[in-house]
Amino acid sequence: MPSHDLIAPNGGTLVDRFVTGDEAAKLKDAADSMPSITLTFKQACDLEMIAIGAFSPLTGFVGPEDFKSICTTMRTADGTPWPIPITLAVDAETKDSLAVGGQAALYHADGTLMAVIDVESIYEHDKALELPNVFRTDDPAHPGVQAVLEEGDWLVGGPIHVLTVTPEHEPGEQFTDHRLVPAATRAAFSERGWKTVAAFQTRNPIHRAHEYLCKCAQEICDGLLIHPLVGETKPGDIPADVRMQCYETIIDHYFVDDRTMLTVMPAAMRYAGPREAVLHALVRQNYGVTHFIVGRDHAGVGDYYGTYDAQNIFDEFELGEIGVTPLKFEHAAWSNKAQGMVSSKTFPKIEGDQIFLSGTKVRELLDKGERPPAEFSRPEVADVLIEWATAESTAAV
Ligand code: ADX
Repeated sequence: MPSHDLIAPNGGTLVDRFVTGDEAAKLKDAADSMPSITLTFKQACDLEMIAIGAFSPLTGFVGPEDFKSICTTMRTADGTPWPIPITLAVDAETKDSLAVGGQAALYHADGTLMAVIDVESIYEHDKALELPNVFRTDDPAHPGVQAVLEEGDWLVGGPIHVLTVTPEHEPGEQFTDHRLVPAATRAAFSERGWKTVAAFQTRNPIHRAHEYLCKCAQEICDGLLIHPLVGETKPGDIPADVRMQCYETIIDHYFVDDRTMLTVMPAAMRYAGPREAVLHALVRQNYGVTHFIVGRDHAGVGDYYGTYDAQNIFDEFELGEIGVTPLKFEHAAWSNKAQGMVSSKTFPKIEGDQIFLSGTKVRELLDKGERPPAEFSRPEVADVLIEWATAESTAAV
């Protein structure tokens, strides 16, 4: 299938900000005499997402017009849907080393030169505008809010020229085999002849409700992309390498190989609930998917968002403004009476019939080396988690 049959990227053009060959060599030399910025983990994730085109149409970190427009209208200044400003925040000292019209070298925390930014704007970080609009709260206990509050008070905007997104000494897994850029997932879908593809976003180990959502989507689409977020997550979330083992295990045992793909999305989690659901959908559109799963409390944390806010927010866009179709799922759980996964849309509520387990309860079981019920988690997945949890608790003693 020729690529023009695939869904158009958000804004129409798939961005690629890598420089190679002579141009890269020249930029590297020039970077030595530029002011430097060391990126936080979140900023390094954002840089990679921009570089590979996952954040198309963004070609760099946003300037003041886009920042304001995104915060207030969920669209860039030219009207393209975009719900969360992708910013490069710096402190006052760094800001003083920069000049509008100049360039700055962007380094990974491990010292790797990653990119150069054309400094088009330097402006005040209006956190009072960003927080209530993007997160619907300014509570510092919210992990995404906390991250913004801790960031610098100045923002640097401008396009980036990227040398590498693979730092030399990054701890942990790079998931190189699964780190497909949007152009590569698009090519893979074409090769497989998939005209419709549903993406499943996740930052947790895969349980039965997740599996149910994925399989419902498989019934209506040609293919499924299990697309875990593997960039920055909050402390307490299960590490990406452990989750990857869970996804690989469940695919091995419970999915059909030629209908299922597993690749990673190197983005940072913001826990911004509804706005992040829109971001997740647009990003997946850039990766070439046509449908996007949005379940209960998507990308939420604590009690900051209503259960279905992340679904309802899609109604705030005109028909066709967002190319990808959200697949909206009610809260799903195992029903003993139905002997299967159900939701309030598909099976009447019977007191005590459904199996619900809190995250804390599941963790307790895993720490003791016990599998959660098979109605909640596949045993093969539970075993991966038990191995990790028991090793963790032994290490903690
Ligand atoms: S998230 O932060 O990525 O949203 P998680 O990995 O738990 O967290 O969820 C992945 C997707 O599954 C999200 O779309 C979420 O809304 C959905 N989801 C998780 N659990 C359920 C459930 N029990 N019923 C319906 N949808 C669910």
